[in-house]
Amino acid sequence: MPEGMTDIHIHILPGVDDGSQDMEDSLLMASLALEGGVDTIIATPHGNMSEGAYLKEEEQEHTSMIREVFEEFRQEIDKRNLPLKVHLGMEIFSTPGAAAMLQQGILLPMNDRGVCMIEFGFEDSALICRRRIEEMLDIGMSPIIAHPERYTCVQRDVRTAEEWVYMGCRLQANRGSILGRFGRKPNRAVWEMLNRGMITFIGSDAHSPYSRTPYMKDVYEIISEEFSPKTAARLLGDNAREYLL
Ligand SMILES: [Fe+2]
Repeated sequence: MPEGMTDIHIHILPGVDDGSQDMEDSLLMASLALEGGVDTIIATPHGNMSEGAYLKEEEQEHTSMIREVFEEFRQEIDKRNLPLKVHLGMEIFSTPGAAAMLQQGILLPMNDRGVCMIEFGFEDSALICRRRIEEMLDIGMSPIIAHPERYTCVQRDVRTAEEWVYMGCRLQANRGSILGRFGRKPNRAVWEMLNRGMITFIGSDAHSPYSRTPYMKDVYEIISEEFSPKTAARLLGDNAREYLL
């Protein structure tokens, strides 16, 4: 295994979204990540989940709570001497108002960089996705598209996601999709994108220590075998170090 893999997509902060529900589970997830070879994570709680229905003030409150919980989590990691480096990001649900909220600091970029992680609705059209990407590019953000293989418009034709790459996005595939845990369509789409060299990051998108976990060793081994250990190291660590740490 390469030294120090990085997981850039993980719902590890307790009680802030549909991921870890308490600190105990968060610490179990941290241990599992370490066991699987990960030594750095960017915690990515959901942001802007109410499709713009939230008042800005409520979204701001949610983000403040995320910052507080992140500090508590970091302290717990330190207290236990776990060798896990933790950073803060956010998986932002794409809506017309998301870019403005990001610009105002109401939503969070990845590790305080000019990079944001965005997700789309599974059934969003290619046109809608493109608009949301353009809005982020217009404010000078480089978008990372979370799990492109899970969107219908990409499953129909991966060239939709190829266009996002040409626009300046980077694509993050989910471990679970590569392992076939989300069914046949995302599995087929993710392998097609891997084969075309379109994927920059593999993340766990882990939500708990019991299912959809952050244990990355299995996917590292699969990518090493199918491509090469160097490719696996790039997708699971080197690229994150280069662009996000
Ligand atoms: Fe996620």
